[in-house]
Amino acid sequence: MEKPSKIIIDTDPGQDDAAAILLALASPEELDVLGLTIVAGNVPLSYTSRNARIVCELAGRSDVAVYEGALKPLERPQVTAEHVHGKTGLDGAVLPEPTMPVQPLHAVDFIIETLRHEEPGTVTICTLGPLTNLALALKKAPDIAPRIKELVMMGGGFFEGGNITPAAEFNIYVDPQAADIVFRSGMPITMLPLDVTHQLLTTKARVARIAALGTDVSRAMVGWLEFFERFDEEKYGSDGGPLHDPSVIAYLLKPELFSGRHCNVEIETQSELTVGMTVVDWWRVSGRKANANVMRNVDAGGFFDLLIDRLGRL
Ligand code: RIB
Ligand code: CA
Repeated sequence: MEKPSKIIIDTDPGQDDAAAILLALASPEELDVLGLTIVAGNVPLSYTSRNARIVCELAGRSDVAVYEGALKPLERPQVTAEHVHGKTGLDGAVLPEPTMPVQPLHAVDFIIETLRHEEPGTVTICTLGPLTNLALALKKAPDIAPRIKELVMMGGGFFEGGNITPAAEFNIYVDPQAADIVFRSGMPITMLPLDVTHQLLTTKARVARIAALGTDVSRAMVGWLEFFERFDEEKYGSDGGPLHDPSVIAYLLKPELFSGRHCNVEIETQSELTVGMTVVDWWRVSGRKANANVMRNVDAGGFFDLLIDRLGRL
């Protein structure tokens, strides 16, 4: 039996982040969650910090170390997404306020100290929100870049376009400068863009399978999904909405569910029309060096089988 992979989850919960955190915590044989680092994104930091701890306590894991990070993006004004996630970011289920603590160390320092302490090439960073914390860590401690085993990130889009603007996906749009720093860092990157997550729809049949688990976790998840998907069902006219963030954890657990290719990705940071766009050279026409393993296809049935099986363990 291989030892579990050491991961840090950087997150802005959000209902889909919650599903990703639960999937990771339900997989202790494969994943050793060293800590959750929190960033402002879907909702302000006070709510994303609260929400991360609500999710840990729901999973019976008040022992998880939670570290608060960036309050706002590096340069651009803060953008949040209450219109999608609700005022709290976890609308759809009513759960007790968290009692577990936030760690005193800042998230950026936790990332730096963990990467300097652990063996090089043994810690995977999973980002589910804007890349502000990771970019700040790289600026403060450039020596950590070669120590990161891999960044697996939900963000961006190419043939699928954007979701917060016609060109940009939310996580990148909120902090394009941070994304630019990360994509130029040279660290191994696997990117789960909208092109993948828009194939992962929370259809009524899939939500019913989660409900059938009949647990506190499944009841909360159903409430969150039914709230969270309404915005995208309206926008896309689909049965269910895309479940973005758990794709990052599913990739770590079952990479064979996904396929894509190594190509160049650059971030638009200047044009007001397309700021936050991930310019993905899928057809390799630019001659620019490949810097990311960009996923494009996913076995959606296999993904939901994995997610529902693991949620059933909590
Ligand atoms: O665009 C989708 C991403 O933005 C997801 O991570 C969602 O949680 C929001 O952060
Ligand atoms: Ca997120």
